[in-house]
Amino acid sequence: MRLLPFVLVRWLARPLAPLRALVAGQWLRVSEVDGVLAWLHPALRLNRVFARVEGRSWVAEDMLALRLRCNGNAHGWQAGQHVQVFLTLDGVRHSRSYSLTRVAPDGYVELAIRRQPGGRLSNQLLDHLSIGDVIELGQAQGDLQWPEQAQGVLLLAAGSGVTPLLGLLREALARGITAPITLLHYVREHGQRAFVDELQQLMTHYPNLIVRWALTGASERERDGRLSACHLEGLTADHALACGPAGFVQRATQLWPGALQSEAFTAPTRTSAVGSSVQLRFARSRQQAQGDSARSLLEQAEDAGLRPAHGCRQGICASCTCTLLTGTVRDLRNGALFSEPGQPIRLCISAPHADVEIDL
Ligand code: FES
Repeated sequence: MRLLPFVLVRWLARPLAPLRALVAGQWLRVSEVDGVLAWLHPALRLNRVFARVEGRSWVAEDMLALRLRCNGNAHGWQAGQHVQVFLTLDGVRHSRSYSLTRVAPDGYVELAIRRQPGGRLSNQLLDHLSIGDVIELGQAQGDLQWPEQAQGVLLLAAGSGVTPLLGLLREALARGITAPITLLHYVREHGQRAFVDELQQLMTHYPNLIVRWALTGASERERDGRLSACHLEGLTADHALACGPAGFVQRATQLWPGALQSEAFTAPTRTSAVGSSVQLRFARSRQQAQGDSARSLLEQAEDAGLRPAHGCRQGICASCTCTLLTGTVRDLRNGALFSEPGQPIRLCISAPHADVEIDL
């Protein structure tokens, strides 16, 4: 039911401030207030971000740009950050993290969503989300920033890693940045090159921008291969931003000699090997389980029947953060060990190194 038009939903964000004060003072429950607001319009909430789908456009064979307009609860978002998209499928709430390729001051944002083979949520968004639908988003997170003082900027992207970099690039060019910029985008095949028309137009308008695509899986004649030192020769840049799967970002870090910001989004490599046996204790749930030291605590908590909050399952969104009470955990991305009681850990990228107790 929509008793209010969406334009009023955005306008109401400020007048709802007294209700927020009452919730903060525990005079009202947020769930009760949200229940009434959602009855007026499905995007109207006290604090949570809901957005209406305003447009859809395919920007690669396997990538869709979604144009959304948020209710008034998205504050301080920046292009290049990422947000969780929440969707309930068959009664189960799912979420995934996607990058903001555009953020406008009037509440419009753009997300680029790549199809994941077998990915329930991405396939649902790509194939079934329609203009006018309302979806829930998390708050934006992420630290990638345009290096304002750089004399030259190199943007290194692999796969959907191009999406946060495109967001930053659009804003930098619109602000009049004149330093030389090179974008190198690695994709398996031609059809996976994203935003090609727009990037070619940008190259025409901004002579300081060069965009190149490197094919890693095409026929031998066309193949450029994976990121290597010779791809970086002769580039005019003193600062690089790299975004893509963990292996790609690691390679960029090894090869690029200058300043570098990076964001890796691939889930840690799963091993089928069973590690040594460990005891897992989930304090708040008062449960114990026999676990192993090879797999993430998120997987093992789920195997034990718990349903920890989570989003990206890749160590990015922080929604699975939990407190380590006792024991030692290992970061699956780099092997670092953490054993300080009270330390926040991300369950999706942490494996028990020995017996552990966590506040779950
Ligand atoms: S689920 Fe996103 S950081 Fe763990």
